[in-house]
Amino acid sequence: MSTRLPCATAVSCPNIALIKYWGSQDTERNIPANGSISITLAGLETTTTVTFDPDLATDRLILNGAPRSDSSLTRVSGHLDRVRRLSGLTTHAEVISGNNFPLGAGIASSASAFASLTLAATQAAGLELSPRDLSRQARLGSGSACRSVFGGYVEWHAGDSHETSFAETIFPPEHWSLVDVVAVVNREPKPVSSSTGHGLAPTSPIQTGRVADAPRRLDGCRQALLERDFDRLAAIVELDSNLMHAVMLTSDPPLLYWSPSTIMLMQEVVAWRKAGLGVCYTVDAGPNVHCLCEGSNAPEIARRLRAMEGVLDLYECRPGPPARLMETSAR
Ligand code: PMV
Repeated sequence: MSTRLPCATAVSCPNIALIKYWGSQDTERNIPANGSISITLAGLETTTTVTFDPDLATDRLILNGAPRSDSSLTRVSGHLDRVRRLSGLTTHAEVISGNNFPLGAGIASSASAFASLTLAATQAAGLELSPRDLSRQARLGSGSACRSVFGGYVEWHAGDSHETSFAETIFPPEHWSLVDVVAVVNREPKPVSSSTGHGLAPTSPIQTGRVADAPRRLDGCRQALLERDFDRLAAIVELDSNLMHAVMLTSDPPLLYWSPSTIMLMQEVVAWRKAGLGVCYTVDAGPNVHCLCEGSNAPEIARRLRAMEGVLDLYECRPGPPARLMETSAR
């Protein structure tokens, strides 16, 4: 007779921050220096299956079809340890995780990876966490993963403790049909990880000012979203992205994530907006340019971007759903 092993599968989407998380109050628990707001991106998905198996001597990780024994396994194992501590389980697990977008696409996958891992692992371990608790737990794996637990427009309250630092949906996906047209200009993984970058942020003399001004930008962003005021949103989103990159550039050692194509695209986007086309840019810890616009402008922006030198791929993403569980077949 075969007994069913504790197993669960979860799916979640990455997110793009409109107001960015950069720098931490507590690097161990990823309590951020400032709150942030993001859009969960529909269509891009990470699917993760976790099976706790008493026959395993160690945790196993299979990422996009390939077994991994590097730092990604260490990070996943550390996350499973936290779930084991919460649930009292002591068995090791097999984690099978895959993205429907190429890992080298230049789209951050750690948020969707840790949101889906948290949901699958806690469910398989028999824990029924509230969405808020899932968000707290996902944050421990990767800060921005706490936002991918939720759908639509999401705010991560910085808080100052594990209890007070979590995300929640502030507007559902259908509130405003914004589109993130992602222009991929480099498919390579970033040379300096965001965790290293968060650690360097306090060495920048302007990080203090950036963090002190964050409540004003968060208010402005929330208000622009509420009123669906694209011009106001564009100004605050570009300012916030520029401030984060200014901190990166003035850290010790300095970090420069942009390539010449990044700068060219940022300048084009601003020129298009000045000429009347509603679009703005935001850039994460990498060279790719996220072009935000209202749904009706997305085809024209995609057409223009496709015609530009240096643009390798385009993804068009609307506000997406929260992390969710899938049916898992018995093993
Ligand atoms: O969650 P992390 O450690 O990958 O950091 C995310 C950092 C940014 O993507 C640059 C900004 C953000 O808020 O998503």
